[in-house]
Amino acid sequence: MFNKLQQKWKVGGIQLFLILCTFAVTGSLTAFISERITNWVGFDENTLFAWKILLRLSILIFGYQFIILAVSFVFGQFRFFWNYEKKILTKMGFMKRKAPKTEPFKLAIFASGKGSNAEKIIQYFDNEKLVKISMIVCNNPQAGVLDIAKQHNIKTLVIDKKTFTQTEEYVQLLKNEGITHIILAGFLWKVPETMINGYRNKILNIHPALLPNFGGKGMYGHFVHEAVVKAGERESGITIHFVNEHYDEGGIIFQSSFPILPTDSAEDVAKKGQILEHRDFPKVIASLLLPASS
Ligand code: GRF
Repeated sequence: MFNKLQQKWKVGGIQLFLILCTFAVTGSLTAFISERITNWVGFDENTLFAWKILLRLSILIFGYQFIILAVSFVFGQFRFFWNYEKKILTKMGFMKRKAPKTEPFKLAIFASGKGSNAEKIIQYFDNEKLVKISMIVCNNPQAGVLDIAKQHNIKTLVIDKKTFTQTEEYVQLLKNEGITHIILAGFLWKVPETMINGYRNKILNIHPALLPNFGGKGMYGHFVHEAVVKAGERESGITIHFVNEHYDEGGIIFQSSFPILPTDSAEDVAKKGQILEHRDFPKVIASLLLPASS
């Protein structure tokens, strides 16, 4: 059940726990406040039952919405619950529905290797009018991902380290191309601050382990799986997260996991992880950009 909720809300285990705490505390607090208000108003056993019900219901229906936001703030979950409230207020007719988007999101996929994730994403959005894979950015002229780009007629950009790390040239170039989001799918260079500032909360990365464990500098590719097996972990998985200034520390959007058998090698773990990456990465991108489709 918890796994289902995690998938539905696209949150990790800790965030799910904080969300459930918010619901639990809000429920008790609303009941408490509602009783206090009823007493304060002076309702007693002689008051008409209908009045009592009306007051209680108003507190439950309207008060609850404010209380949950206040409580969510305490648990650090305001953003999640504000989105949740927006949906409710829209359904109740208090907020206007957003005008449907007609301009597509334009994605640049950054990759350094063979590009199997890039390919899955390209295939997934092939017929999607609102999401266009506009560019493949790569730091290695020999990388297989460039062939994939060619097969799909997607523009490529091979970058050099000095320009990438020391100038804003590539940020400007992406902006000029109308790129709205950056997807890191096996991209091995650290994204410089100028690019993170230019695309704040618009850069996603996939990491082949369950962050915050087995992340950080030097933890990429086979190093991750070797460390996981060496540590005797019984499970591993994948993490999709926003990218900030620190390696693998941006907000977690989604995680999924698989069991590790005692006989599994690092290669076995890598294979199991990649199945999840291919299955989940495109869907998570879609659910962020096209909320209605989730
Ligand atoms: C993936 O396992 C990804 O998690 C990691 O690099 C790998 C890229 O594989 N960051 P591919 O190039 O998409 O096949």
